Amino acid sequence: MREDDRYDATPYVPDGAGLAALRRAAAGCEGCPLHRDATQTVFGSGDTAARVLLVGEQPGDQEDRRGEPFVGPAGKLLARAIDDAGLDPAGTYVTNAVKHFKFTRTGSGKRRIHKAPGLRELSACKPWLLAELRAVEPEVVVALGATAGKALRGSAFRVTKERGVPLPLPDADGAVLVATIHPSAVLRADEDREAVYAGLVADLRVAAGALRPD
Ligand code: URA
Ligand code: SF4
Repeated sequence: MREDDRYDATPYVPDGAGLAALRRAAAGCEGCPLHRDATQTVFGSGDTAARVLLVGEQPGDQEDRRGEPFVGPAGKLLARAIDDAGLDPAGTYVTNAVKHFKFTRTGSGKRRIHKAPGLRELSACKPWLLAELRAVEPEVVVALGATAGKALRGSAFRVTKERGVPLPLPDADGAVLVATIHPSAVLRADEDREAVYAGLVADLRVAAGALRPD
């Protein structure tokens, strides 16, 4: 067996646990090598009965230090977009496809540069995401960017082709998936940043529209 084949969080995930117990258990996950260099596990957070569950890629530098998802610049932009889309921020739960920060260091070793997680890490960490989906039972799941889309729909997922429309989500019974761009893509856009932001908000409005009527 190749060493890669052993990357798997499953042995660390307690059966049938609620979010609090899952979060405690995830703090000790060694399902893949990413736990070695990161500061801590960054588990999901938010409303435990959220109707909308949003999935990012992985914690960034600030999230890694603070232990909470989406507390850095991308998180601030996401909060604004959620609000502009008419979603109730108090009724959301945010998490990431991968729960540890993957990075390389600059030459001097001072700065940590985000490195995209690979398919091995995505599949290793997926049991935590599935456990969160089971515990929260959202009506709508939002994939923020290609990595979250691949985690939820498989490696053939293309966000440019499949964004902004409700898609079936076999992993979460009764829930629909809406994919959109990652909020960092708005921050990185050199031109037309407003249009890129408006696209994110439009997709989140599709997610709002996919909620069951009250
Ligand atoms: N980007 C993500 O995908 N997730 C975070 O938690 C922060 C930035
Ligand atoms: Fe476990 Fe996921 Fe962290 Fe890997 S990234 S050690 S699977 S929590």
